[in-house]
Amino acid sequence: TLQVATNVTEQKHHVSRDKRGQILGNLRGFRGCTVWFTGLSGAGKTSIAFELEAFLVSRGIPAYGLDGDNVRRGLNKNLGFSKEDREENIRRVAEVAKLFADSGVVSLCSFVSPFAEDREMAQNIHKDSDLPFFEVFVDTPLNVCEQRDVKGLYKKARQGSIKGFTGVDQEYEKPETPDLVVKTVDCTVEESMLQVGIIPTALRSSD
Ligand code: PPS
Ligand code: ADP
Ligand code: MG
Repeated sequence: TLQVATNVTEQKHHVSRDKRGQILGNLRGFRGCTVWFTGLSGAGKTSIAFELEAFLVSRGIPAYGLDGDNVRRGLNKNLGFSKEDREENIRRVAEVAKLFADSGVVSLCSFVSPFAEDREMAQNIHKDSDLPFFEVFVDTPLNVCEQRDVKGLYKKARQGSIKGFTGVDQEYEKPETPDLVVKTVDCTVEESMLQVGIIPTALRSSD
C-alpha cells in the first residue's frame, strides 16, 4: 500500500530568488523559468531543447535540459507508458523543473506529455510557486515523425512489439492554447531553436 507523508511542514528558505539570481553570473536578476516541449516521438523536442540549452549556456544563461529518455533511465525508471504512469512521470518532472527554475536555472523539459490534463498540472505546479512556465508545441505531423523514425520505435509499434505508443495506439492530445507552436518541417534545428530562444532571453529585459 502507498505510504503518504503526514506531519510535514513547509520550511522557509533564508535566501530570496533575487539573491540567487544575482550570484548566477553576469546577467542581472532572476531568470528561472520552465520551457515545456510537448509533441510526438520524433517531433524534435530533444533536438530543439538541447540546442537551446547549448545556446543559452554559451551566452552565460544557466539552463538545464530534462529529457524523457534520460529521466526514465534514472529518477523515473520505475514508470512505464500507461496513462497513470505518464501522469506520475510528468508530475515528478514538473516538480524537479520547478526546483531548477526556483534556483534560477532555465529548465528545458522535453517530454511527449500527450495528455492535456498532465500538462496543465505541470503548469499549475509552477503557477502555485509564481514561476514562469511556457508551453511549446513541437508541431510535426505524425507521418513525418514516422518517416524520421529516429530510434526505430514506430516500426516496432506498427509491428506490435511496443504497446501504447503515442500516435499509433495511444492518443496525443494537441495543446489548444500553447504559448508557442514550432514547426520543424523545412527548417533546421537551429531555426526552430531560435523561435523558442526568444522566450527565456525576453525575460531579461523585464527583470
Ligand atoms: S511521457 O508521455 O511524457 O511520459 O513520455 P516521455 O517521458 O517523454 O518518454 C518518451 C520517450 O520514451 C520512448 N518511448 C515511448 N514514447 C511514447 N510512447 C511509448 N509507448 C514509448 N515507449 C518508449 C521514446 O524514446 C520517447 O522519446 P521521444 O524523444 O519522444 O522519442
Ligand atoms: P523527439 O525528442 O521529439 O523524439 P528528436 O529530437 O529525437 O525528437 O528527433 C527529431 C529528428 O528530426 C532529429 O533527427 C532531427 O535532426 C530531425 N529534425 C529535422 N529538422 C528538425 C527541426 N527543425 N527541429 C528539430 N528536429 C529536426
Ligand atoms: Mg526525445
